[in-house]
Amino acid sequence: MKTRLAVLGSGSGSNCQSIFNAIDDGRLNAEVVAVYSDNPEAYILERARLRGVPAEVLDCRGYKNKFPLETQAALAERLQELRVDLICLAGFMRLVKAPLLEAFPRRILNIHPALLPAFPGVEAWKQALQAGAARTGCTVHYVDAGMDTGEVIMQAQVPVLPGDTAESLHARIQVQEHILYPAAILSALARL
Ligand code: GAR
Repeated sequence: MKTRLAVLGSGSGSNCQSIFNAIDDGRLNAEVVAVYSDNPEAYILERARLRGVPAEVLDCRGYKNKFPLETQAALAERLQELRVDLICLAGFMRLVKAPLLEAFPRRILNIHPALLPAFPGVEAWKQALQAGAARTGCTVHYVDAGMDTGEVIMQAQVPVLPGDTAESLHARIQVQEHILYPAAILSALARL
């Protein structure tokens, strides 16, 4: 039986693409059954449509950062109808709360561009650069009610190099993210 995944993202969706790629080359025996974004312009939606995966915009009622609880409850119900096994947050920039967490306990994963617990929050690669860190990386963790606080599943390290800009460092982290996320999904499935 293929694992049924849903992916939520707010941006370009390169991590979602890395999950598609891992499915296509046989690393993951899974299927992405739906992709959701809070941002109607996000390229992640286009990536899903190009693959024939249903892609929907989440109604966040015009709030800049909030993920309305009614929207989360409706999404939880829909994902249960779709018999989703795991929800993968891939660059999703809103906090998931009780309606989803209670419907999918230990079944929601997030990828974060730093070695948590270091540098939680937004633009973690910039935080690492500004802090003068010699190394940073990326983390896949279970999602809990905090911001980037859930139990770590897997991490990968990345050096910060002399002359790095925010862009060059983020690009180096993303190379590792694209390897790490599919591997961490497998690890989480083995622990279910
Ligand atoms: C990724 O680097 C991901 O780690 C980060 O957003 C980027 C999304 O890229 N997530 C966070 O910062 C979450 N706190 P993508 O849309 O190309 O996958």
